[in-house]
Amino acid sequence: MSDSAAGQIDHVLDETRLFPPAAEFTEKAVISSQEQYEDLYRRALEDRDGFWKEQALEHLHWFEPFGDVCQWEAPHAKWFVGGKTNASYNCVDRNIDQGRGDKVAIIWEGEPGDTRTLTYNELKVEVCKCAAALKELGIGQGDVVSIYMPMTPELAIAMLACARIGAIHSVIFAGFSAESIADRNQDAEAKLVITSDGLHRRGKVLPLKKTVDEALEKSPSVQTCLVLKRVGNDAPMTEGRDVWWHDVVDKQSGDLPAEPLDSETTLFILYTSGSTGKPKGIRHTTAGYNLWAKRTFDWVFDHRDDDIYWCTADCGWITGHSYIVYGPLTAGATCLMYEGAPNFPAEDRFWELVEKYKVTILYTAPTAIRAFIKWGDEHVEKHDLSSLRLLGSVGEGINPEAWMWYHEKIGGGRCPIVDTWWQTETGGLMMSPLPGITPTKPGSCTRPLPGVSPAIIDESGSAVEGENGGMLCIDQPWPGMLRGVWGDDERFVDTYWATVPGKYLTGDNARRDSDGYYWIMGRIDDVINVSGHRLSTIEVESALVSHDAVAEAAVVGRPDDIKGQAICAFVTVTTADPGDELRQELRQHVRKQIGALAQPDDIRFAASVPKTRSGKIMRRLLRDIAAGREAAGDTSTLEDYSVLAKLREEGS
Ligand code: WT7
Repeated sequence: MSDSAAGQIDHVLDETRLFPPAAEFTEKAVISSQEQYEDLYRRALEDRDGFWKEQALEHLHWFEPFGDVCQWEAPHAKWFVGGKTNASYNCVDRNIDQGRGDKVAIIWEGEPGDTRTLTYNELKVEVCKCAAALKELGIGQGDVVSIYMPMTPELAIAMLACARIGAIHSVIFAGFSAESIADRNQDAEAKLVITSDGLHRRGKVLPLKKTVDEALEKSPSVQTCLVLKRVGNDAPMTEGRDVWWHDVVDKQSGDLPAEPLDSETTLFILYTSGSTGKPKGIRHTTAGYNLWAKRTFDWVFDHRDDDIYWCTADCGWITGHSYIVYGPLTAGATCLMYEGAPNFPAEDRFWELVEKYKVTILYTAPTAIRAFIKWGDEHVEKHDLSSLRLLGSVGEGINPEAWMWYHEKIGGGRCPIVDTWWQTETGGLMMSPLPGITPTKPGSCTRPLPGVSPAIIDESGSAVEGENGGMLCIDQPWPGMLRGVWGDDERFVDTYWATVPGKYLTGDNARRDSDGYYWIMGRIDDVINVSGHRLSTIEVESALVSHDAVAEAAVVGRPDDIKGQAICAFVTVTTADPGDELRQELRQHVRKQIGALAQPDDIRFAASVPKTRSGKIMRRLLRDIAAGREAAGDTSTLEDYSVLAKLREEGS
C-alpha cells in the first residue's frame, strides 16, 4: 500500500459524514432514484447482452449492425461483433444529424488569453481537413500516429481525424522527454508524428519541435512530422520529413466521410507505467470504448444540453481521451478546453475561467485542489462561481480535507462531488457516486456503475470483506475494458489476468464498508501516484542507474501535501563525496530520460541499498525512512543491518 494512501486511510477510516444530494438536483438528474440505479445495475449484469445491445443501438451510430454483443474468452473480449461504426462520426457527425450542428462543441482558451470556439459543424470541417491531410501524407487504417501537442483544439481535432480514417492515435503527454517519445514511437512503430512548434507554459515557451527532432533521431519508423504553428518561434524543419499544418491541412476539403470501421478496430493506444520498467501501450478499440465513455459521462456528469463542462486534464492522459474528447463530444456537450497552468498569470486563473464561461460542471484532480488550498481562499473568493452545479475528482483518492474544501469553497455547499475511480485500462469511470442519488462520503468512490462487477480478493484467491480490504478485481467484462497491451499479449495476460485467474486485476487495494461503499487504499504494486500521474518506481530507478555515477538506486514514494506522493530516491554512487551538484545532475538526468514529472524530489546518497537475502529491495523499509517514520516492522531478512543505520543518518 502506498504511503499517502496509508496516511489517508487513517482519516477515512473514521470518516462517517454523509452528504446526500439536494432535492432540486435529484429532481432533474439523469439517474434520479435509487430504484433506477438498482434496475440498471441488475440488468447490466443479469442480461448483459440485452442491456448493452440496447445501449449501443441508442447511443452510437451504426453503419452496419453488429451480431454478438459480447464474445468473452477470458481475458480476451470482443464487443458488438461485426458491427461497423466510427468514433469520429459519433463525436461529430451524429450531433449534426441530431440537429446540434450550431451548438458549441469546444470553447478554447490559450494560456496567453487567446480564445476560439468551434461549433459541431465547424469541428467537423476541421476534423475532415486534418483527416484528409493525414491521408495525403500516406496514413491509412491501422497506421499509428503519435501526437505530442499542447492543449489546443488541434489536439482533439488530430485525435478525431485519426479516428475518422481508422488510424491509431498514440497521444504522448507534452511533458515527456525525447527519450520517452522515441521509446513510444519505436514500440508502436509510429509512422507519423503530429506536434507543434512550441507550447505556452507559465508565460514561457517550450520548444516542442526541438524535443520531437531529438526523438526522431531514434524513431526509424516515423516518415513524416506534421507541425502546428502555435507559438511562432523558429522551429527547425527538416526538408522532406516535416510539413506545416497550415500548408497541408488548411487546403483540404472540409468534407471527408467517416470510414465505417469494425467495432474492434483499434482506436488508440496510450502508454502507461506499470510495475516494471517499460511503459506499456494500453490498447482500446472503437465501439465498446466509445459507448463506455459516452454512457459513463451521461450517468456520472448528469449531462444536460445547456451545461458548460470543463475537465481540466490534459489529452495526454486517459482522462483527456475519455472526458474531454470521446465521452462529452459523443454526448453533444459543450466543453471548455484550457491550454495552460492553473496559476498563470495568477492563482485565480481557473476561477476566472469558471466565472467567464459560466462553467456548470468541473472535473479536476485532488492535487490541484490541494494546491488551491495552499494558494489561499482569496483567489477563489474574487470570483462568482454560482454557475457550478456539479464537481468531479479524479486521479487519486481525495482526502477528506480537500473534499470538504472543494465542497464548501468551490461548490458553495450545494454541488454534489463525484469521486471517480478508474484507470487507463478501464477506458472510463468504473466506480463513482451518481450525483442525483448517491449520498457521498468524503474519501470514498462509493459504488460501481452499471456493468461493473468488482470483487475484493485475498492472497488465496477468495473474496474478502473487512477493514484491511484486498486486491480489487473486476470479474465480468465491460465494453470499455482494455483489449490488450500493444504488441505484447503475454504481458497483458501476466499483468492483469494471471494473479487471480479469470479476473481483471486492477493493481489497487480496496475495502467495502457495510453500506457497500468502496474505499480505494492505494496500489499493491511498485506504482506510485505523483500528482495523479502513474509512475513506476522501477522506471525511475532504471533512469537513475543509466547515469555513469550511479551504481544502484532504489525509488519509493513518500507522502506529499500537494502531490499526494513525492519521489524519493536512495542512490549509491561510484564517485567520492557526492553532493548537491550531483543531485542536480541526477534530477536533470531523470528529466531527460523520462520527463519533468519523474524528477526525484529527494535524492539521498547511501552507502548501499537495503535488500533481502534474495536480493529484493526492501521498499517498505525505505518508505518508512523516506517518510521520516521510524523503520517499523520485520527487518529480520535485511541483508545488512548497518545499511539501515547509515540511511537514517543520511536523512537527518
Ligand atoms: C490509478 C489509475 C483514472 C484516470 C486518471 C489516472 C488511482 C485514480 C482514483 C480515485 C483513488 C484513484 C488508482 C488507479 N486512482 N482515480 N478516484 N480514488 N485512486 O489514471 O494513470 O491509469 O491511474 O490511479 O490507483 O489504479 P491512471
